[in-house]
Amino acid sequence: MQHLDLYAKIEPFIGFDEAYENLYQIYLQKLSQYKIDTILDVGCGNGNLLLHLQKKYNSQGIDISNQMVQIAKAKGVDARCISLDKLTEKYDAIVAVADVLNYFNIETLKQFLKDIENRLKTGGVFICDINTLFGFEEVTAGSLTIDKESLFIAIDSEFEDDVLETKITLFEQKGHSFTKEQAHITQYYYEVKEIETISALRLLAVDEVSLFSDIPDKHILIFKKD
Ligand SMILES: C[S@@+](CC[C@H](N)C(=O)[O-])C[C@H]1O[C@@H](n2cnc3c(N)ncnc32)[C@H](O)[C@@H]1O
Repeated sequence: MQHLDLYAKIEPFIGFDEAYENLYQIYLQKLSQYKIDTILDVGCGNGNLLLHLQKKYNSQGIDISNQMVQIAKAKGVDARCISLDKLTEKYDAIVAVADVLNYFNIETLKQFLKDIENRLKTGGVFICDINTLFGFEEVTAGSLTIDKESLFIAIDSEFEDDVLETKITLFEQKGHSFTKEQAHITQYYYEVKEIETISALRLLAVDEVSLFSDIPDKHILIFKKD
């Protein structure tokens, strides 16, 4: 997963930590309403949510980016680079935080939601969030450059026909010269109704969240396996 590994490398510089911490607090509040012992964080990224989860639950994280998993493990959380369909354990709760579902095209998303159902115990909950149309059009689309002493990052995102294409370029100083790495990440916009229709889980609640603006840029969805 080279493209996501480059995202992992630049993530500390793009300044999402505070907004994501607010999102984690919403998840923790929602999780506290259920009886949970075991929890899986799918697409756990840098492990910051796992740091919270492990204080309260028997928690594990997985991510498809090995670079992300190394960053998470260095914080002392239980994270592995393995795909969801390779797991055999069942959990009381599963979370997929910060638009993980938007990384999947429709076919992958269908399979992903089946895998989530398979990995949930009966009565278990799945909580995830997806970007709203406003989130894609007004928050994520656009260009950003970050100029630090020894590195330069350019992020360029275009949203068209419900698809966000993001190009990331990283220049890193190595001695007297610069290395250049590039990545291309695609994300897909989904309406809540679409996700509800393709999932066999029961949708319990949908909340609007405004992380980066006053207008809702994410929906948080809570599903239950009956
Ligand atoms: C925007 S980041 C969010 C990370 C983390 N949940 C957080 O709150 O910071 C999306 C994450 O999803 C991961 N990801 C993308 N596709 C995945 C897949 N098929 N399975 C597991 N993780 C995936 C990426 O590597 C990345 O770490």
